[in-house]
This record gives sequence, C-alpha cells and structure tokens, in this order.
Amino acid sequence: MQSFALLRALKGGFNGSSQLVKSVPAMAMSTVAANQEETASKASQLAAAFGGVVAGLVGASVVASATEAGDGLHPVSYPWSHEGMASSFDHSAIRRGHQVYQQVCAACHSMNYTHWRQLVGICYTEDEAKALAAETEVVDGPNDEGEMFTRAGRLFDKFPNPFANEQAARFSNGGAFPPDLSLITGARHDGQNYVFALLTGYREPPAGIDIREGLYYNPYFPGGAIAMPKILVDEGVEYDDGTPANASQQAKDVVTFLAWAFAPYQDDQRVMGLKALFMTALMTGFAIYSKRLRWSSMKSQKIVMDVVN
Ligand code: HEC
Repeated sequence: MQSFALLRALKGGFNGSSQLVKSVPAMAMSTVAANQEETASKASQLAAAFGGVVAGLVGASVVASATEAGDGLHPVSYPWSHEGMASSFDHSAIRRGHQVYQQVCAACHSMNYTHWRQLVGICYTEDEAKALAAETEVVDGPNDEGEMFTRAGRLFDKFPNPFANEQAARFSNGGAFPPDLSLITGARHDGQNYVFALLTGYREPPAGIDIREGLYYNPYFPGGAIAMPKILVDEGVEYDDGTPANASQQAKDVVTFLAWAFAPYQDDQRVMGLKALFMTALMTGFAIYSKRLRWSSMKSQKIVMDVVN
C-alpha cells in the first residue's frame, strides 16, 4: 500500500509537497518494521535449519556406528563370474560348491527347497545324481499297514534335513538355529558377497571385545558374534576335479552353488531375455520398414487445393 501510494505520488506529480513528506517517512517506518520482523523470522528459521542439520549429522553418525556394530561390516563386492546380463553360472563351480555343501555345511544346514533332480544336467549326470540321492535315507509312508518306513533317496526327494526339528538343531548348536540355505543368498542383503565374507571373515576379536563361550568373532555377522564356528579350512574338502581346495576356493564355490540354488533358472531366463531382446529389435525394424513401405504412396503425394475464385 505504502509503495503504491509513493508510486502514485511520484507518477502523478506532486499534489503538494506535504503529502510526499508525510508519506515517505511512514513508508520507511513500515519497511523497517517489516524488515525487522523478517529478520527475526529469518533468524529463527536459520536456527531451526541449523538445529535440524546438527541433529541430522549427529543422528547420522549414531546410525552409521550402529550400522557397523549392529548390522555387521559391509562386505566388499566380489567379481562373480555369473553377474552380468549375458553371463551364465560356472557349472564346475556349482559342482564343487555342492561337494562343499555336502561334505561340510549339510552337517548343520538344511536346503529344503532344493531337490536332487535339479542337479541333473546342471552339475551331475542323471546317474551321478541318482547315486548321490541313494546314499541318503528318507522317511516315507505310511505303507499298507499304516507304518512309516525308510527308503533310499530318489531323484524327486529334497536334500535331507540334518536335524529332526528346530529344537534338535538348536540343542546341537548352543541354542542358535542354522538357517535353511536354499534361498540364503537372496534372504540377506548383498547375499553372495555377505556369505563369502562371512565364511572367510573369522578372526581374533579385537582388544576390548569379549566373546561369550560358544560364540565366535566375525565382523560381518550382525552383532559380531556368531554361533557357527569357522568351518572352511584349507584341504577340508575333497574335490573330484582335482582343484586345490583352499578355504577361499571352497567359499567361492559354495557361494556359487548357493546362488544357483536361489535362482536355478537364471541361465535359461537370461537366454530367454536375450532372445526376446533380439526378436523385439528385429520386429521393430521390420515394423518401421513395413510402415514406411505401406505409407510411401500416401506420404509422397502432394495434394494441391486449386481454389478457383
Ligand atoms: C557346526 C554346524 C555348522 C556348520 C557345519 C555350518 N554352519 Fe552355518 N550356521 C550354523 C549356525 C548354528 C548358524 C546360526 C548362527 C547364529 O545365529 O549365531 C549358522 C549360520 C549360517 C549363516 C547365516 C548367517 C546369517 O546371516 O543369519 C550362513 C549363511 C551359513 N551359516 C552358511 C554356512 C555354510 C555355507 C556352511 C558350509 C560351508 C555352513 N554354514 C556350515 C552352524 C553351522
């Protein structure tokens, strides 16, 4: 209002000098007042923002330190040979990884979603897989007399459970439950790198950290103390292809096997995906060509409106 009055006064010429003299100080005063108010509110806004930033930084640092101790050290990213749009699993690594699982991990961990038949054509021939399944015992039944009975495993059976139930598993492992490994690389954040880092990450606890009896220090496990002992040691597994079985080789192979168990159809899906991309590109090209061909007679016409008068 004030500036409007001033503008009018300036534009319209001076109706009387007293008017301008009167209006200018009034305007200046109100501007000052407004400025003061603005400064005050700006200051409070700034303080609030600063407080927010400080609180955010403090909070973030608290969260960051909580993440490392509580959620475990973040693993590095390893260059898995099956990562990448056109990469397939290393099937000899799956085979060796299954040997690691069977000779080591299967003593404690089940794989309830993986069946012997799935290994056929992936890392074993049908006869090999049948022979492996036949070495296991499966409770089946009831038979004609209503009794449960045991028989040798067949291709359609899942991998056997190391324990009868969760209570038995906990009882043998100091109260901790060894989780099912079928889907573990998908069930944990950054699963493959995490499992590799976990298996190879055992070390002496740093000074000042006490680990309770029956637990083992592993910085990659949330909380840092895990009930699973260090189980992969050099030459702890016998590979049937003669690969030197050092601990990190075993870890890499078993993670490849677990990654395959989580996504058993990944190789096929990638081939399908590439085929679909190729076909889509081909059909798009054909559609463009065909559209231009069909429309060429229309597009190359020139319609002239010869308007007489
Ligand atoms: C002696 C028994 C035993 C053997 C052998 C064993 N584990 Fe474990 N594992 C455990 C127990 C117990 C836990 C649960 C640990 C806990 O909760 O503190 C566990 C947990 C895990 C976890 C899950 C960690 C998490 O984030 O919850 C993974 C992954 C794992 N084991 C992988 C393996 C692999 C791979 C092998 C074989 C190379 C293996 N384990 C062999 C007992 C075993």
